[in-house]
Amino acid sequence: MYATRMFTRGFASSAVSRGAKVAVVGAGGGIGQPLSLLLKLNPAVERLALYDIVGTPGVAADLSHINTKAVVTGHKGQEQIGEALKDSNIIVIPAGVPRKPGMTRQDLFNTNAGIVRDIAEATVKYAPKAHVLIISNPVNSTVPIFAEVLKRNGVFDPKRVFGVTTLDVVRASTFVGQVKNSDPTKINVHVVGGHSGVTILPLLSQTGIKFTQEEIEALTKRIQFGGDEVVKAKDGAGSATLSMAQAGARFTNSLLRALGGEKGIVEPTFVYSDVARKDGVEWFSTNVELSTDGVGKIHPLGSLSDYEQTLYKAAVPELIKNIEAGVSFVAKN
Ligand code: NAD
Ligand code: LMR
Repeated sequence: MYATRMFTRGFASSAVSRGAKVAVVGAGGGIGQPLSLLLKLNPAVERLALYDIVGTPGVAADLSHINTKAVVTGHKGQEQIGEALKDSNIIVIPAGVPRKPGMTRQDLFNTNAGIVRDIAEATVKYAPKAHVLIISNPVNSTVPIFAEVLKRNGVFDPKRVFGVTTLDVVRASTFVGQVKNSDPTKINVHVVGGHSGVTILPLLSQTGIKFTQEEIEALTKRIQFGGDEVVKAKDGAGSATLSMAQAGARFTNSLLRALGGEKGIVEPTFVYSDVARKDGVEWFSTNVELSTDGVGKIHPLGSLSDYEQTLYKAAVPELIKNIEAGVSFVAKN
């Protein structure tokens, strides 16, 4: 293990207001490195543990020279995952393979399902009370996989498992800002559903902005398939990493603030939810008010236009299929 200084005391998961421990799993990767950089700059982070199967000692040594409070430790290989996860308030997981052109996120299932299951097993063993933020694709399946492992070990708490869908919201603000020639930081789009293609539902009718039907259809398609734009432009070198790092750091920071007692912090995230349960969907992203427990109040869908209702109907069977794939993977493995 690489450590910048020795610790003399431990922190329980309730000690967030005094400074949190955040672990990044997959910290040596395209998302992991810039995400770890952004977390190192966050004054709410007291300990930052970087875990990967390769490369983490170097990344940790590099980041540790930045003069911010967070003490960075690097952990490499299965035998060091325990020390990385132990005492974590938050574990952020961008571990696994990214897409290449021509692939769907679901095509990553065969490789990433096993990776996420193993990280879940380690979480059960070393940090069962941590809040877990899953970035690894396909999110619609990896989140249920993680939860099923926690369930079969009797430590599942639906308030502590999050699929990170923040990038869809970040993209939606950017793309709407471009079309309307306005400041994207002031634009908030409620993006609901899941995190792939037709399961991503931007509710543009709730923005209060006037769009033509042509704009709505073009924007919806661009938000649903924004990830493909980056995969195509990177031409075989992977998918979104820098924008994802920013989105992941934003979500982690929002959760840290809420765990520290701040009220009124709302982020869309893919959680165990009643919102679409009447249609058979157990995991669904809507705006969620974060709390000292993690998930606080889960917001409803709100009103949908006729067009958005059609999108919702298309998303439901795909979501059910993706979630079921995750559940049955754990049942068989
Ligand atoms: P990458 O290949 O650059 O990095 C992945 C890292 O995971 C590598 O360093 C690798 O060594 C590590 N890894 C592999 N197996 C591991 C294990 N068992 N334990 C710990 N680490 C392990 O990929 P990337 O571009 O950083 O993308 C990572 C994942 O994030 C992909 O699945 C990608 O599809 C997904 N992603 C999700 C979103 C989202 O919005 N949720 C956005 C972008 C990318
Ligand atoms: C994204 O939305 O950019 C990520 O899910 C990565 C991908 O495969 O598109």
